[in-house]
This record gives sequence, C-alpha cells and structure tokens, in this order.
Amino acid sequence: MRIDILTILPKLLESPFSDSIMKRAQENGCVEIHLHDIRKYSLDKHHKVDDYQYGGGAGMVMSIEPIARLIEKLKSERDYDEIIYMTPDGEVLEQKYCNQFSLLKNIIILCGHYKGVDERIREHFITKEISIGSYVLSGGELAAAVLVDAIVRLVPGVLNNETSALTDSFQDKLLSPPIYTRPPEYNNWKVPSILLSGNQPEIEKWREEQSLNRTKKRRPDLLD
Ligand code: 6GU
Repeated sequence: MRIDILTILPKLLESPFSDSIMKRAQENGCVEIHLHDIRKYSLDKHHKVDDYQYGGGAGMVMSIEPIARLIEKLKSERDYDEIIYMTPDGEVLEQKYCNQFSLLKNIIILCGHYKGVDERIREHFITKEISIGSYVLSGGELAAAVLVDAIVRLVPGVLNNETSALTDSFQDKLLSPPIYTRPPEYNNWKVPSILLSGNQPEIEKWREEQSLNRTKKRRPDLLD
C-alpha cells in the first residue's frame, strides 16, 4: 500500500511514522508513506498557500492552485483509490472504514489548515472526508497520523501475529476483555483465577462475558 500525505507541516508528520510498527511496516515493504510539502507547489515567490475568503470573514483559506498542482502530479504517476480530506466536518472515523482502507493500493490524504480548503478542491478532487471526532484540532496532521496508524496496522503482513488485529476492541463491535500478565498477585491484587486454570473453553467464555459486560457499561451505542 502507498500513502501520499499532503501537508504544509511535513515535519509534524515525520516522527509518528518513524518508530515501532509504522517503521517496521515501511521497512518490510508492506507500506510506503510519502510526505509532500504543499508549499513546494506554490508558484508564489513567498510560497504562499492561503488567501482571504471571498465574501469576507475571519480566517484564511487554503488556495486551490498548489494543492491541485500536487494532486494532478500524483494522479499522473499512478491511479488512486481514494483521495481523503481530513476535516472536522467529515464522516467520523470508525474501525470498519480503517478495515476497508487497509485493502486499498494507493491513497492520498490531504491535511487541512486555517479555515479549511477552497471548496472546489473538495468538489473536484476529494473522494472521502474524514474527521476523527467531535472536537477541533488546529490542523489535519494529527488526525492524518491517527488515520494512517489505524490503517497501516491492518495491512496484511504488518503485525507479527495476524490474529492480534482481529481481537482488537471494535473489530467484532465489542470492547476487549481485561488482560493480565505476571505476577499472579501484586499487593494482594489477584489475577482472576479462571485465567490461570488452563481451561481454554472456560477462559474464552469468561472473556466473551467480560467483553459484553464492558461494552454494555461503557459503550452501549456499539450494541445498537
Ligand atoms: Cl480531521 N481535522 C481537524 N482540524 N480537526 C479535527 C479533525 C480533523 N477531526 C476531529 N477534529
């Protein structure tokens, strides 16, 4: 899978992809992540990428030209399955979208800034608009990092233990059960004895009950 991220702050997106699972995914050849600085596609001598809104009002708007030039260049090099715009008024990200995106070959992710991008970019280039929740970030970069992390860990071959993504919270519409490791007792706080019993069918039953109870209590909306 190839992911092209379009941003005015490429430095902000270097570290999220340079460690741990994200780093390994790129080294294994499972994923390529390319950061593009929108400013480099501005023909303005000061590398300007924004302008005042037509009709007046506070806040700058990201201009169409540099972004269109960059998207057209990328599209001339390969076909893209989705061109995603990160925006607080997009569709709220859910695990099922991450599952779908993880099967794609090439995607572009555009990070918004200021008041947002010129509406014509959304009309003519963007195929999906994604938000990561009902709050406002100062730019789309951190949201893009969240989206890419959630997608990349699902790309076949990225996780060592392929089953571990399948047992994530949300993957079966349930939260994960409680988990424990050694020691079996700390400060007189004991690990539930069922987990030490070696009785695998009973353990699975306990985990399913715990998942369901946790979901009912914390995220009843997932059960609707
Ligand atoms: Cl995708 N962008 C911004 N700027 N704020 C957000 C968001 C995205 N998702 C939630 N808040």
